[in-house]
Formats: sequence, structure tokens, C-alpha cells
Amino acid sequence: MSLSGPRVRHPLPPARWPTREAAAGSRWFSPIRIGRSLTALERTWVPAMVPWRATDDGLVTPEVLDWYARFADGQPGVLVVEATGIRDIASGPLLRIGDDRFVPGLRALVDTVREHSRGRTRLFIQILDFVTVRRRPEPERFFGRYLEVTDALRGQLALWLDDPRWREAPDQSVREFLRAADRVTIETVLNDRELEALDYGYRERIWDTQLPHIQELPRVLPGLFADAARRAREAGFDGVELHYAHAYTMASFLSRLNTRRDGYGGSRENRARLPLEVLAAVRARAGEDYVVGIRYLGEEAIEGGSDLDDAVWFGVRFAGAGVDYLSVSKGGRFEDAKQPKIGEAVYPYTGPSGYECMPTVLSDAGGPFGRNVPLAAAIRRAIRDAGWQTPVVTSGGIATFDQAEAILERGEADCVAAARQTLADPDWFRKIRLGHGDRVRRCEFTNYCEGLDQRHKQVTCKLWDRAFDPADPAVSLASDGRRRLSAPPWSPPDEG
Ligand SMILES: Cc1cc2nc3c(=O)[nH]c(=O)nc-3n(C[C@H](O)[C@H](O)[C@H](O)COP(=O)(O)O)c2cc1C
Ligand code: SF4
Repeated sequence: MSLSGPRVRHPLPPARWPTREAAAGSRWFSPIRIGRSLTALERTWVPAMVPWRATDDGLVTPEVLDWYARFADGQPGVLVVEATGIRDIASGPLLRIGDDRFVPGLRALVDTVREHSRGRTRLFIQILDFVTVRRRPEPERFFGRYLEVTDALRGQLALWLDDPRWREAPDQSVREFLRAADRVTIETVLNDRELEALDYGYRERIWDTQLPHIQELPRVLPGLFADAARRAREAGFDGVELHYAHAYTMASFLSRLNTRRDGYGGSRENRARLPLEVLAAVRARAGEDYVVGIRYLGEEAIEGGSDLDDAVWFGVRFAGAGVDYLSVSKGGRFEDAKQPKIGEAVYPYTGPSGYECMPTVLSDAGGPFGRNVPLAAAIRRAIRDAGWQTPVVTSGGIATFDQAEAILERGEADCVAAARQTLADPDWFRKIRLGHGDRVRRCEFTNYCEGLDQRHKQVTCKLWDRAFDPADPAVSLASDGRRRLSAPPWSPPDEG
């Protein structure tokens, strides 16, 4: 299902909060076994959210620690640390785990979460690989430098201008001509990928096997993921979550768009091959008793992309291969993303598939609330039918106790995750647990936070980021100096 029909504004679902006793006796707040030897004390779950707070070298900062401390204060059953890069390459203020020097910072993160959750929260880290995406260039620079002047391009010019001399034209003449050319000429002579590089920024595909580093992905990725998992274990995380979702390398291997011809693209078997090889390598390195989960897409929600049938098929294979949980997301692909401004990079949550990943109240008749639950439910059913007990996690527009409880009661998932609601109120699980649900600060699902993420700005929530006393030394501010970085503290009324 993708966004269809006119968009209307949906009200937040009514919230009826349980008493302390009812919360304690509920399904959502009951324990679950994950993997061979881990028990999460609750089925409450905070999925990965990138807050753009690492150093430019990918190291944990005090702001990263604060971000996770604040989520740990609410003591969710499981907290998943943001997408963390498995390579040792520059990638801006995204966390990295591609070398042993990242381990001490990550260990401090683990210690912080243990302390703030009083040991009640199980902590996983999402590990990912991505291929190159460049910013949309100034046309001057694109034609002057980035565009490769190939014989094919010269041939197109010769045809379009009806002048065979272009076939022999020097590089510089081609560049100068194109710099001054009109749009029709540019659209005619550039191929689709060159035009995309001009209009959106250069972006690699995992099926660009003419590029040696793309060709070799199946050879290098199992080892890179396995090394990252070994470091996660050394740092003290309870498990790793393999990021096979959204716009990145592993999701692209699973995609129906994957046309690789080396045994890693085309049929479902071939598309699942590398994801299964990575899982096996991670398992071998991290150990049988270590939690290894997968986050992947129940549907890509793009034209020609993988659908729920594919996801069900992959889910059964992953379960059979011994994954410890499956966390189901939707969409978030580059293929339908909006054109970025010059100097910015294309962002995979701006198009219709991005909407499906983080749905807002401005929605079609289906609305945003629990929108993606049917995907998890279908995957879970198929896994159970195949004889596997692998827990399935659902997320997407879940913001009340009743929603979560009903999902569990209907057997649509085993754990219920909330990203934005937990950003809006990191204490909300604790408030519900203590019978103070009426004090929950409710997410409005209008995606101010996602807009910050898009511009790679430190992520905060509009419901609390302007509420501070500038003279208060306990409040740390975002680099723009106008927003507080963490939600204001909360303590139960009986604790004063
Ligand atoms: C600021 C922000 C950053 C996110 N970063 C990640 C990420 O690193 N990895 C991931 O799998 N999903 C990421 N997501 C998606 C969420 O985990 C979640 O799937 C999505 O927001 C829908 O759930 P919700 O309706 O509870 O917010 C991010 C979402 C937000 C709002
Ligand atoms: S900024 Fe908006 S969408 Fe994001 S967590 Fe806050 S209220 Fe929810």
C-alpha cells in the first residue's frame, strides 16, 4: 500500500492510559526472550534514530551520551542505537564502528545507558553500510570538472548538432559547450545517470558492477559487518541490528531493482544471498549467544521495488538462518526522493516512499497510525507457519498504549516500537509504567524532527526544544544556540 487519494489531516488517536497495575499486567510491559540467552524486560522498543551528534570523525560525544541517557531514563525494554557506519571512512557526524579506536566511546555509551536505565534496558546497535551519494553540484562545476567526457557523449553531441567534428572534440571544448548549452540540449546528450548526477548529485548503485569497489561488495561486506559486530560485543552492547532497510547497501541488494549478474542480483535467492552471507559471518564472529537482529523493509514502496511477498519470503529465510529478531520498516528509498537544492544531498525520506517510512498526520484515508503494522503481521504469520518463533518488531505511527496492546493481542507483532513518540517524550514508557500516562507529551507527527535530520542538523523535538532558561547552566544548546538538545527532565510527582 502506498499513499493514495487526497491527503487529509488526521487527529491523534484518543489515548486512554492504564493504571500502574494495568500497565504491569499488560502485554506491552511483559518480558520477551530475544535470541538464545537474552530477556528484554518489556516489549517496549525504541528503534534507531540518527541525531547528528557524533564528531566529524564518527566518535561518541557528550551530546551523543546525553541523547541516549535521556531515552534510557524512560527504561524501554530495548533501545537501538542509531545507524552506525561499519567502514573507517569519513562520513560526517554519523557514529562509526569501523575501527577499534571507536570502541572506548561506544563503551561509554553502553555504560551511560546501563546507568540511566538502571540496567533495565537492553541495548543494541544498528550497523550499516552505504555507497557514495554526492551533493547536487553547481552546474558550472559539474560541466567543468565532474562530468566524464566519454566517446558516447561526444557521439551524442555529434548527432544532436549534426556535426561529426564533435566526435574528435577535445575535452575542454565539450565542457565549454555544455556549460553554455540550453536545457533541451543537455537533456538530449547526457544519459540518464549523467543527468541525474547534474540534477540530484552523483549516486552509486550496488549494481554498478563496472566500478571495482562495487563489484567487490560481496567479498568485503561479510568481514566488515562481522568486525563491527565483534567491536559491538567488546563495547558491551547486548546485540547488533543489521541495517537492511531504507536506502542503503543491504536493502539495495534485497531490492527487486537489483540487477547484478554475479549471483547477487535478479532472483529472490540471489538478492538474499549477500544478506544471508553477512548474517552468517556476523553470527560466526559474534557467537551463538549474541543477539543478531535485522531491520528490513516490509515493502519498498517504489515503482518496481520489492513488495510484501518478497519481504515475507526474505523473512522466512532470515528466520531459518537463525536471526534473533526482525524489525520491519517500510520505504525510505532514494529512487523517488525530491530533488535537493544545489549544494545539498538527496535525502531518501522526501518522496512517497519516505512518507511511508515516517508517516505524518497529513495522510490519505489510511492515516499514519499503525500504518505499517500489516506488513509485520504478514511476515510474522509466515514465519510462524514455517515453524520459527523469531520475534517481529513493528513501528510506524504508534503513539498510544492501546495501539500497542491491541497489536500484541492480535498477534501482529511481538514487540512494538515508537521512534518519534519517544523523541517527543523520552519518559513516556516510565510515565505509563507508573500510572502517569496522562502526563505523556504526545508527538504531533508533523515531522519537524525529520526536517532537521534532512538538513543534517542536531535532531530535537518542537514540543520541548524552545522551553529553557538561557541562564540555566544545566541546559546544553544546539550549535545554532536556539534549541535545547535534550528533553526537559521529568520525575514522578510522588518523588517531588
Ligand atoms: C530523526 C530520525 C532518525 C531516524 N534514523 C533512523 C536510523 O538511523 N535507522 C533506522 O532504521 N531508522 C531510522 N529512523 C526511522 C525510525 O526508526 C522509525 O522507523 C520511523 O520514524 C517510524 O516510526 P515512528 O512513527 O514511531 O516515528 C529515523 C527516524 C527519525 C525521525
Ligand atoms: S518534532 Fe514533531 S514529529 Fe518529531 S517527535 Fe516532536 S512532535 Fe513528533
